[in-house]
Order: sequence, then C-alpha cells, then structure tokens
Amino acid sequence: MVRLTQLQAVRSTLLIPLVARAFGARCYPWLDCHDADAAHLLSCLQTEVAPLLQDRLVMLNVLWRTGVLKAWGREFFARYPHATGVNLGCGLSNHFQWLDSGRNRWLDADLPEVLDLREQLLPEQGGRRHNAGIDIARDGWWDALALDRLAASGPLWLLCEGVLMYLPPERVRALLREFAERAPPDSVLVFDAISHVGIGQARHCHSVGPSGAEFCWGLRSPQELLQAHPRLRPRCAARSVAECYGVFGWAAEAMSLPWSGAPLYSMHALRV
Ligand SMILES: C[S@@+](CC[C@H](N)C(=O)[O-])C[C@H]1O[C@@H](n2cnc3c(N)ncnc32)[C@H](O)[C@@H]1O
Repeated sequence: MVRLTQLQAVRSTLLIPLVARAFGARCYPWLDCHDADAAHLLSCLQTEVAPLLQDRLVMLNVLWRTGVLKAWGREFFARYPHATGVNLGCGLSNHFQWLDSGRNRWLDADLPEVLDLREQLLPEQGGRRHNAGIDIARDGWWDALALDRLAASGPLWLLCEGVLMYLPPERVRALLREFAERAPPDSVLVFDAISHVGIGQARHCHSVGPSGAEFCWGLRSPQELLQAHPRLRPRCAARSVAECYGVFGWAAEAMSLPWSGAPLYSMHALRV
C-alpha cells in the first residue's frame, strides 16, 4: 500500500488515465487496452476510482488515445527495433508492456514527486526500462535526460500524453522547439491536444475539475504545431476522437471547427 496524499493538482491527474486503462473497458469494451498493471497499481494506492469512472467522456478519450499510440509506437519500433522510447509526464503508466521490441530501451520521466511514487510502484527493473525525474516545463530537459546518449542507437520515439494541455502555451512551444533542435532525424514526438476552446474549462470536466488542475494550452489550428520550428513535419495524419462517434462525430466536428479551430480532442505525431 502506498499513500497518495502528497500529490497536488496536475500531478494527481495521473489517476485519471490509470483508472481508464484499468476499468474503462467496462464502459467501452471494444477499446479495451488490456493493461497488465493499472488495476494492481490502483489497488496499491487504495484510492476511490468510482467518481473518475463516471467521467465517461474522458475514459473514452484515454482508451482511444491508448489504441492510437500503441499502433503508432508499434509501427515505429518495427522499423527501428533498437531505438529508445521516452515517455514525458509518464505518471504511473507502463507502455513498455506494449512497445517492448525485445531490443529497444525505454525511459519513463515525470516530476520528482511523481517519480518517488513511481519508484515504489513501478521500480526500474535494470536492463532496458528506466525512470527519471524531470520538469519538462523548463528548458534543458533534453540534456537533463541525457537523450543524446539514448539517441546514439537511432531516432527516438517520444510520447507526451495528457500533459501538454496543463502547460502554459510558451512552455509547449519551447518543448516542441527543444525536440526539433535536438532530436536526430526520423525521431517522433507523439502527443494529444485539446482545442483552445477548452482552455480554462477544467471545472466542467468531472474528473479533472476536482484535482485543481487547469487546462492552459489548446490548439487554435493544427498548423500552429509546425510553426514551432522549421524542422518539424507531420509523421502521419492527426487523428480526432470524432472517429469514435462515427458519422455523427464527423458531422459534429465539421460544424464546430469554425469555432473550435481544431478537433476538441486529437492525437498528433511530429517528426524531425
Ligand atoms: C494526466 S497525467 C498523465 C500521466 C500519463 N501520461 C498517463 O497517460 O497515464 C499528467 C502527468 O503529467 C505530469 N506533469 C505535469 N507537468 C509536468 C512537468 N512540468 N514535467 C514533467 N511531468 C509533468 C504529471 O506529474 C502527471 O503525471
């Protein structure tokens, strides 16, 4: 059993995707990600999961994005089996269970308080999976994680899910720039994004609102991502959660785009 009381605001939001991966398939069985650890981790934390599970919209978003990033990650590591994966703002996720090529390495990074918790629940196993404390809202995270060393074996696959919307816009642009300037060719950065209309609206979100975290960054248009640095290119077409709702979802998105500027929730993969 591990105590969770010390985590504040955005750090405590790590519980939301954990609950989705553990139990979200009760609501959306076709999106079941079969996470081997999530339910066990929650039982160690002895935390109330029912209120988070009631946020059906967010449960769907997390399960859908897990499917997207698994597909994108598997495609990348099939092509670069020796490359390293880096999960920025990893929380208590264990995506290496799905993206272990047998030869690649994996680095899970989060703020030091979360890292303390992670070390208790998901300690490094030696070998190919490691944990690191980092603040990605500060310049220099690339060097602090010694990513040049990890990039010696090829391009990197970076993931930043459920994190960027909590950072100030200038810090998101700085993170994209640091990735673009430092990553070796063919490296990929995968992340999710909300539309800018969600900024400041966390109180309306049943799972995020009570945590005290706030949405600070959202897309005004998908093109703004490439404007962060000339080395950035789309790795593939962005995906919108509208695809989960079929024709109704696409129609609703087409009607809302003039106002929202970008899908309400989407997944992106940029490469250098
Ligand atoms: C919603 S949780 C997502 C956790 C994980 N990516 C997942 O999907 O399970 C947000 C995570 O971002 C981390 N985070 C927020 N700001 C951060 C920062 N400046 N540097 C590193 N991690 C940060 C939090 O500690 C938390 O673990």
